[in-house]
Amino acid sequence: MLSRRRFIATLGAAALAGCGRPARERGATTLVFKHGKLFGDPRALRALIDEFERAHPGVAVREETLPASSDEQHQFYAINLQARSEAFDVLAVDIIWVAGFARAGWLRELGALEPGAFFDGPAEAVTWEGKAYALPWFVDAGLLYYRKDLLEKYGLAPPETWHDLVGVAREVAGRVPGMHGFVWQGKQYEGLVCNALEYLHSNGGAVLADGRVVLDSPQNREALALMTDLVHRYRVTPASVTTATEEPSRHLFGQGRALFLRNWPYAWRAFQDPSSRVHGKVGIAELPRFPDGRSAPTLGGWQLAVNAASLHQEESKALVKFLTGEKAQRRLAVAYGFQPARPALYRDAELLATQPFVGRLARVFAAARPRPVTPQYVRVSQVLQSDFSAAISGLRTPQAALAHAQRRIEAILGAD
Ligand code: GLC
Repeated sequence: MLSRRRFIATLGAAALAGCGRPARERGATTLVFKHGKLFGDPRALRALIDEFERAHPGVAVREETLPASSDEQHQFYAINLQARSEAFDVLAVDIIWVAGFARAGWLRELGALEPGAFFDGPAEAVTWEGKAYALPWFVDAGLLYYRKDLLEKYGLAPPETWHDLVGVAREVAGRVPGMHGFVWQGKQYEGLVCNALEYLHSNGGAVLADGRVVLDSPQNREALALMTDLVHRYRVTPASVTTATEEPSRHLFGQGRALFLRNWPYAWRAFQDPSSRVHGKVGIAELPRFPDGRSAPTLGGWQLAVNAASLHQEESKALVKFLTGEKAQRRLAVAYGFQPARPALYRDAELLATQPFVGRLARVFAAARPRPVTPQYVRVSQVLQSDFSAAISGLRTPQAALAHAQRRIEAILGAD
């Protein structure tokens, strides 16, 4: 079945070779590089690509941008990679997709990783059956942003536990009219899974253990109940958060309307802009935990891979190597707040001079918790997205949501 599909796709690719791209690009090799929307000046990435082109005469690179949301990008890739499209060569892949894409035969194998060059989390995520199918581009982990000025004013410390956070948020929100306590990403999408797992994991809970689904546990019930209570009982989180992704929550905090924000490291750069209303007023801390647990930021991040159906395999591999190299990761960190996936850069004097907070993040990244690693991840996530969303929206109790998700995920993994 698969080989027949491959055969047809190959025929299609041969017939289309050279026809699918604009005429001005025929002759020279043009690589199409697909990646999500950048938050920052696109010229910084372009300047790096120009440098690659100068070092590779006869190779041009065209960038094509997809929406920022991981879920929308996944939809694009699932359709086009499945159809063996050769319309793009290099792609940015979310850390959770590599196993599934590699198993489907959609990504080119890239050889062995340099030992120790990348953080363990992303290095494991790009490896499928002992081989790398993508190279880590930048790494993400959930962080707690807080209004340093307000905590100082009221003599309060950044919270260590989720319960401390509720206490501090209520105290400050009670004194500053119009101020929300805590904003995060609660829309039914991949970001919600990242957020919810930070509560479960920081209470000793898990989704899978030794290949078994362990969602319906007392630790997870307590954790999801606390997350739901933020909105419905303690009211430190506005109900609008149940439809918020990264950018709307960042804007709310950036407009000075929230005391705490959970977001990825990229948000830091925006708050450093002198025109930002919160410029100079923001602190960063590890995410809170439950009293007996540990802070458990979700590991995120993006990798670069070569489309297995690309007609320009070698040039594409060279571009992936270049853009994930030390020099490129340093520049992208400064330009976009993309945190390097290479631990060596966390000791880099140039980077530390421009991004002083970077040094503290190495510890957070090293401790970040991956989402369940399974080639069925996207299906598992869809279940988690709908059940977590039902819980935080008050449509299902945390207990019922977890029991429901447990049954559905057992069915997915059992049928694999
Ligand atoms: C960030 C993370 C990614 C995650 C996504 C969810 O882009 O890097 O891993 O899936 O957010 O919204």
